[in-house]
Amino acid sequence: MTTPANELKPGWTIPTLRHYKVRDGQPPLVMVTAYDAPTARFAVDAGVDLILVGDSVGTTLLGYDSTVPVTLDDIIHHTRAVRRGAPNAHIVADLPFMTYQVSDEQAIANAGRLLKEGGADSVKLEGGVALADRVSAIARAGVPVIGHIGLTPQTAGLLGGFKVQGQGLDSARALVADAHAVEDAGAYMLVIEVVPSALAAIITEQVAIPTIGIGAGAGCDGQVLVSHDLLGIEDRHAARFVKRYANHAQVTREAFATFAADVRTGDYPESEHTYKMKSDVLAELRAALEQDHS
Ligand code: KIV
Repeated sequence: MTTPANELKPGWTIPTLRHYKVRDGQPPLVMVTAYDAPTARFAVDAGVDLILVGDSVGTTLLGYDSTVPVTLDDIIHHTRAVRRGAPNAHIVADLPFMTYQVSDEQAIANAGRLLKEGGADSVKLEGGVALADRVSAIARAGVPVIGHIGLTPQTAGLLGGFKVQGQGLDSARALVADAHAVEDAGAYMLVIEVVPSALAAIITEQVAIPTIGIGAGAGCDGQVLVSHDLLGIEDRHAARFVKRYANHAQVTREAFATFAADVRTGDYPESEHTYKMKSDVLAELRAALEQDHS
């Protein structure tokens, strides 16, 4: 079943989301990334609950090797496009690397820009215990904020790369502490990335805010995937947790190849793709041009 285009889900406010738990009999929340207007529109048409303008835009759309080079202006630019495509959707915008780490003032100002200039409803930042004060500063300034723990792509280098987090006792306990710190600091939702499903389920049990998993198993209160992964636009590599629901890369390559072949053989454009001119106007034009050249 689809939701009519751009209809706001009834009751999708920060307070209702903050208390949204699967254990209360609710279906899991569905979040996808979008970076442009048509994708945002399709997501809303399909009944997706939340749209994330992730800093994954750096690797999916902008051709970077990581999310580190993504700027606040990049996210604002793409959030504005997403907002135009989905005027009533709940849109979360990522705070890129080094736009919130420096100081509370920097974090508040930049989070505010994502709402004021980008049109986002809330912001997301990566980090647990170490970033809890920042979460608290942003939340106290009146900006709804989502935490992101586990594999944090902005600091993947410090974690030894894109690896499963929390498989050992100490690291698992540290992640539980991260979750509590972010919740206590005022986050209304928590993204948990690439941790064992049993650990994500424990964290989901322990916190009162909803957890959104990516590579964190079925025990979370919702799931998020990067749209380029699930649509198969990114077809070079996929993490274990990615499920491909379409193969857009292949469809796109085939369409471009067919277009190129049609142009080269003269099969495109056909008369149905062209615009007509009245024959008397054409005759007059020809006559006039001949006269000009005589
Ligand atoms: O940037 C992003 O797409 C994200 C998801 C991986 C959750 O943060």
